[in-house]
Amino acid sequence: MEPHSSPLRPLLERLESLAALDAPGRAIGAKVRGLLSPGAAKDALSGTWIGHALHPLLTDVVIGSWVSASLLDVLGGDDDGTAARRLIAVGIAAYPPTALTGLSDWADSEPADERVRRIGLIHAATNAGALALYAASLAARRRGDHGRGKLLGLAGGATLGAGGYLGAHMSFAQGVGPNQTAFDEGPADWTGAGMAADLPAGAPTRVVVDETPVLLLRRGETIHALHDRCSHRGCSLSAQGEIEGDTITCRCHGSQFALRDGALRRGPATTDQPAYEVRQSDGRVEVRLAPRG
Ligand code: FES
Repeated sequence: MEPHSSPLRPLLERLESLAALDAPGRAIGAKVRGLLSPGAAKDALSGTWIGHALHPLLTDVVIGSWVSASLLDVLGGDDDGTAARRLIAVGIAAYPPTALTGLSDWADSEPADERVRRIGLIHAATNAGALALYAASLAARRRGDHGRGKLLGLAGGATLGAGGYLGAHMSFAQGVGPNQTAFDEGPADWTGAGMAADLPAGAPTRVVVDETPVLLLRRGETIHALHDRCSHRGCSLSAQGEIEGDTITCRCHGSQFALRDGALRRGPATTDQPAYEVRQSDGRVEVRLAPRG
């Protein structure tokens, strides 16, 4: 272990290497993708309508409610236990939509790193364990067994913490969820992108402009230019994109963007695709990032 790496790193690496999870993970993922094909329901769960993932917002409700109940148990101020019972019930009610958004996001981990699929399964199982403990805690409290209810709540909180830790690992260490073009939008000033004569008509070509992969598509006199890395999970649009009319559809998970300006037409992506202005000089193509909106 490196001197400054997390002491939890070895555990995470062991979990990430659990190949035994691959068969059930692939089967569940395929089932979820089959049930949630691209469209309105998938967009709703993905957060396409709010501009970023919906799952983290909903986890705040579940975690906030359950942790607040456990804090009341520990700190006092809820003598008859009514507030804690209500908070646990709120968390239980918020759990199904929260899990559904997470399941939808996780199913899109294909064809990404298999470590994401494995950690996601453990994250879900851990959170399901927290749900069971909080449900048992609520049942005990309703029977009047407050001591048992509090202990089960504390156990649920500890389990929830482990599940939350794995969720954060997926988001912040494994990079699941962020806009895949956020740190690399492309050149702000006019920059050479090759020769127009090298671009086949009607077929996308991938070029690299100042280290940014750019898709160029020549149609008659017009050349469209978009960031080649799909903002959803990073698939190459020139390799995985299907062009139809004025849109390009990423075959990885079905996100759809306007060729003209990269506007998001359909999720599960949640942000527009960076688009570029194009000009030609002596047969040379130059691009620069188009102004927003
Ligand atoms: S990578 Fe998911 S739709 Fe493109």
